[in-house]
Amino acid sequence: MLPDYFEFSLPTRAIYGIGVIDQLRDAVGPWGRRRALLVTDAVLVKAGLAERVRAGLGATAIEIAAVYDQVPPNSTIRTVEDCAALGREFGCDLVIGLGGGSVLDTAKVANLLMVKGGRVQDHMGAYLLGDTRLLPLFLIPTTAGTGSEVTKVAVIADPDHDVKLPFAETQFLPDLAILDPELTRSMPPKLTAATGMDALTHAIEAYVDKEWSPAADGLALQAIRLIRANLLLACAQPDHLPARGAMLAASCLAGIAFSHSMVGMVHGISHALGGVYHIPHGLANALVLPEVMAYNLESRLDRFATIAEALGVAFPRPGAALGNLLRYGGLGFAAPLTKPLGAVDRWFRRQAAKAGIVYIRNLNRQLAQLTGMPLNLRDAGVQDGLAKLEQVVETAMSDGAMLYNPREPEREAVACIVRTLYQARPTPLPVTAADLQPAGMMMTARETRDVFPDADTLYRVLGGFFERLKADPQIGGPLKASRLCVQFAFDPPAAVMTIDARGDEVKIYRGAEFAGQPEVTMRMSGDFAHAFWHGRINLVSALTRRQVVAKGNVPKTLKLLPILKPAYALYPQYLAETGLADKIIR
Ligand SMILES: [Fe+2]
Repeated sequence: MLPDYFEFSLPTRAIYGIGVIDQLRDAVGPWGRRRALLVTDAVLVKAGLAERVRAGLGATAIEIAAVYDQVPPNSTIRTVEDCAALGREFGCDLVIGLGGGSVLDTAKVANLLMVKGGRVQDHMGAYLLGDTRLLPLFLIPTTAGTGSEVTKVAVIADPDHDVKLPFAETQFLPDLAILDPELTRSMPPKLTAATGMDALTHAIEAYVDKEWSPAADGLALQAIRLIRANLLLACAQPDHLPARGAMLAASCLAGIAFSHSMVGMVHGISHALGGVYHIPHGLANALVLPEVMAYNLESRLDRFATIAEALGVAFPRPGAALGNLLRYGGLGFAAPLTKPLGAVDRWFRRQAAKAGIVYIRNLNRQLAQLTGMPLNLRDAGVQDGLAKLEQVVETAMSDGAMLYNPREPEREAVACIVRTLYQARPTPLPVTAADLQPAGMMMTARETRDVFPDADTLYRVLGGFFERLKADPQIGGPLKASRLCVQFAFDPPAAVMTIDARGDEVKIYRGAEFAGQPEVTMRMSGDFAHAFWHGRINLVSALTRRQVVAKGNVPKTLKLLPILKPAYALYPQYLAETGLADKIIR
């Protein structure tokens, strides 16, 4: 069954990759020459990430003209106004946000102010911009949770009134989202835990709330699976880039899901806890999530059972299993006999749905064990005996997210949840080796960075290796028989090598030595070539990712790949023999 109406669109181009921040030339090319305002925070500047972005943009036409690095963890009206004023002062015509949700939201609203002027409060609301175009916007998340890089919403604090101001504009969807797991590895474990739980909350709320849609469903469930397999691992091993990457991707998928389906009562309550008691958003969500799941359980029982499955909590369905066995095992006539087992299946579905809630409670306890994440509101910073409970309830009840909750939120239920979270005393739960499932192998780019510092080194190493290939009995013959002329244009370092097999013998040229016309030109970095000759790279995928730009008869070149297979073992051997063992990718 589908909803009566749904929309799905994603104008943002999202690019993902370990170290992709250093390969922005093609991605930002369409925007031409620009003066960028970089919005970030002081911690990220200190950690060197702002400099990393500046260096990454160094090879492009985009210049960082001004840096606003004073965004606090909960951005305020004042922050946004100062940020926009700086951008205007320096005549910026592009906004780049580098940071967590607070920074990215600031970049969105500052962009709006730079174009429209006025005060922040004047623009609070939804879809007030009409056809107004904002400045181009690039968002680069350094946490894996808010998904702000793919959402059309922003939240800015109004500290004078203890509330958070919501904004929703289609123009907040950035033109480019850059997802580089390396930029998230400096996140401390406690922040990794809280932001990861924010992403999980987005996915779960998007999947169960009133505005669910089929496209968002798929993204939400995949986000849940990725978070289940990687959140504990990312907290336990902060340098585990595949886990970091999976969390960043999950956060992005969950962001796209909730940007379409919206969030619900968990966010309604946690926005209020953030506004009144300044509880960090991700932590508030982590604590509130299982309570609201329990409140919503009956209204979306089947969907909560599917969530439990995505969390790895699988329960049997004996009726369906026996029915399949009879139907497809040639005993279809007996299938109706399994009908009474339908009630058993429904009972298991209900148990699975409830088990999903237990899973979330246990996940919080394990995150507490790994990171010291608080497990109740008192430990989270509520020091006044919950004296402002009424204000929390009032603020939550008027939050827009409540409108999308599958079950009508009741005041008393909200008060009861907040009281429970204040009084709760769960204990941390140990993490087992099985909980830290590896997230799968992924090549780390760091070990292949700047292998050839200059063109001379590249000519010496790769030139020598190509001569070795030419002389190799397994490769030399087929290479000559290919009668192909391939030119490799490297950058960085800027260098050109040509292999010409069209004459009586295979010739290898460096730089301008070759004056003819190659059949194929392949542009790539020296690091890419280095990894390629280790046999670590799929050339077809690399073409899709524009890591290699090829011109000419590409299929003919790709057909050459099978004969190059022995070269992958030869290259590390060659490096070792020529005193370059330190450059071997292990
Ligand atoms: Fe959130």
